[in-house]
Amino acid sequence: MLMVVTGVAGFIGSHLADRLLAEGHRVIGIDNLSRGTRQNITAALTHSAFCFLEADLSDLAAAEKDVLPVIAAAGRAVDTVWHMAANSDIAGGIADPAIDLRDTFATTFNTLWLMRQMTGVRVALASTSAVYGVHPGKLTETVGPLLPISNYGAMKLASEAVISAAVESHLQQACIFRLPNVVGSRGTHGVIYDLLVKLARSPEEVEVLGDGRQRKPYLHVSELIDAMMFIWRNQGQEKRVIFNIGPDDEGIEVAEIAQEVVTASGTGARIRFTGGDRGWIGDVPRFRYSIEKLAHAGWRPRSSSAAAVRKAIRELAVERGFR
Ligand SMILES: NC(=O)c1ccc[n+]([C@@H]2O[C@H](COP(=O)([O-])OP(=O)(O)OC[C@H]3O[C@@H](n4cnc5c(N)ncnc54)[C@H](O)[C@@H]3O)[C@@H](O)[C@H]2O)c1
Repeated sequence: MLMVVTGVAGFIGSHLADRLLAEGHRVIGIDNLSRGTRQNITAALTHSAFCFLEADLSDLAAAEKDVLPVIAAAGRAVDTVWHMAANSDIAGGIADPAIDLRDTFATTFNTLWLMRQMTGVRVALASTSAVYGVHPGKLTETVGPLLPISNYGAMKLASEAVISAAVESHLQQACIFRLPNVVGSRGTHGVIYDLLVKLARSPEEVEVLGDGRQRKPYLHVSELIDAMMFIWRNQGQEKRVIFNIGPDDEGIEVAEIAQEVVTASGTGARIRFTGGDRGWIGDVPRFRYSIEKLAHAGWRPRSSSAAAVRKAIRELAVERGFR
């Protein structure tokens, strides 16, 4: 099948492209390389079934000019657009909410606009737990009202909404994945990545945002891709599906992650917490995911949050030159 992956040079998009290619699909990957890197797609770039397009999906006129001719020239209909492009720079989005509007929402809106030129096409969106905002208890897919507390979460919720509307007009089907914290090699951001970058700069002391008591679920990227592929394959005739994807546990605390990162770095750095119950404006310090719907559909994670974090720390420590 012919697939399009937006945000292909990023952390998750690059792993997804590798999996789609390994399963025998053809992939057109799109990225403006604002956060992603060519290095992340080194393997894909050598694959004859992969085509990389450097294009900015927030600029509709430019995207129409750059993307549509390549898709038309592919000689077959696109089966699914996997929309992974978004702003993953949380701090940047807090300082300037227009970044989330541009890279998280406008990329979705414009991707859907480009999809008007395709027939029988499906979309798969990487959404987020941030759409839920703050709720007591476990987050199920039916919890509401959805009142995100970050602009990023708001732009993802808006993305889910325009996708839902587009199914009524020109899309065949939509799969919406609500991701937890995803970790693993090629990470471009996130707590493990940030701590390793800080340790490379100052190996004596590392600053951790918040009081370290934030507790969240973490999933390794390899299991995330398994789950996304499982949901996509088993959608059947349903027009829209929404699934939480995550580990089957209560998560792991940031203080524990920081200790594991310092140990793996071999620096012996002191850990200094900035204090307060959250890391940044819009951070949801604790949440618990219900993955019952996904388990009922037939997919279960293999690893705990702690195991996923430990594996990712090993992978990223090597990538960042600590081992
Ligand atoms: N990593 C996580 O923990 C996590 C959690 C929840 C949701 N998600 C979602 O998963 C998706 C992938 O995230 P990631 O962690 O791989 O982030 P990432 O930053 O590594 O990947 C996103 C990619 O999108 C590209 N991009 C951004 N704006 C673009 C634009 N205007 N035009 C074209 N390309 C553009 C970036 O260059 C980057 O390569 C995102 O939609 C993100 O919101 C990730």
